[in-house]
Amino acid sequence: MTVAVRSFAKINLGLYIGAKRADGFHDLRTVYQTIALHDVVRVSVARGTGIEIRCDDSRVPLDSSNTCYRIAERVMDALQASGRVTIEIEKDLPVQGGMGAASSNAVAAMFALERALKKRLPTAKKLQIAAAVGSDLPLFVIGGTVLGVGRGEEVYPLADSPAVPMVVVMPEVGVSTPKAFTEWDARAGEDAGRSGGTSGLTPSRASDRLFEVGCALSAWLSGSTNLGAPARAGGRAGNLLSDLVRAGIRNDFEQVVFSQIPELLDMKRALVRAGAKYASLSGSGSTLYGLFGSASGATKAANRLKKQGLAAVATRTLTRREMNRSLVVGR
Ligand code: C5P
Repeated sequence: MTVAVRSFAKINLGLYIGAKRADGFHDLRTVYQTIALHDVVRVSVARGTGIEIRCDDSRVPLDSSNTCYRIAERVMDALQASGRVTIEIEKDLPVQGGMGAASSNAVAAMFALERALKKRLPTAKKLQIAAAVGSDLPLFVIGGTVLGVGRGEEVYPLADSPAVPMVVVMPEVGVSTPKAFTEWDARAGEDAGRSGGTSGLTPSRASDRLFEVGCALSAWLSGSTNLGAPARAGGRAGNLLSDLVRAGIRNDFEQVVFSQIPELLDMKRALVRAGAKYASLSGSGSTLYGLFGSASGATKAANRLKKQGLAAVATRTLTRREMNRSLVVGR
């Protein structure tokens, strides 16, 4: 039996980088949001042994370095299952795009494998396996709006808000996340050096900053940044948008990535000119997104950006409930 599962993308609604930790990872704070764009992952289990990855996209590794391979090994082990696992990835999402496609593919493979084997793992175990494979995986076990702390792997489900129309711009260039973190460190070091090592992004300053960000995020999420604002038509979706704009959340990776690839800043500006209420780089990029007040506004903007030669797609955010409902293809 082959089980096909949709592997949804994510965006980051703000991303703040803190100090580099002893384990080499960076402390961070972010709000992840799953969106409707997706790949499809097909999994089958036959007699035999081993794991085979298939994908038409030559940029996707087919060996044991593939996140799907790494998760399948762990899931088979945890379920004490045996057999030959074949995982086929139908790629639509960009590689190294900042939308967590490889991470999402792996979690989709885990969901599909559970179904193919007709055996379930407890959610806590799925989160543990996901975190062992990569920082960006656990969010996809939960889906919807998710608070990410630690190295991004410690995730907390936030209240599901209605879908927000959006436009995604997918530049051809990819960005390596580890390299973006290294560049961030180099810049933080330079800042510290320039100011005599006291006022740069030293570990203690970085953690103070993350604490402040944590307070700002919880204020935003609890709605207290919406002080005095009248309730909007569109409910929480309208609020989410206006709260975002008002809270002025930002993605620290923009500082690094925009100076290395200035065209990406131009694309962010193009999104704002096309009517986005809020535009940002997603993760370490290169994908940019804009949030819109209406689906028709998003469609018009995507068409306008396409005319400018950009790979723009109108889509929307995806709630946890919707993600769970539409996970399995053909249901
Ligand atoms: O966890 P993941 O395998 O996705 O991380 C890839 C790389 O990105 C890590 O090896 C590390 O260099 C960097 N990273 C980081 N801090 C994080 C997440 C990732 O430095 N919070």
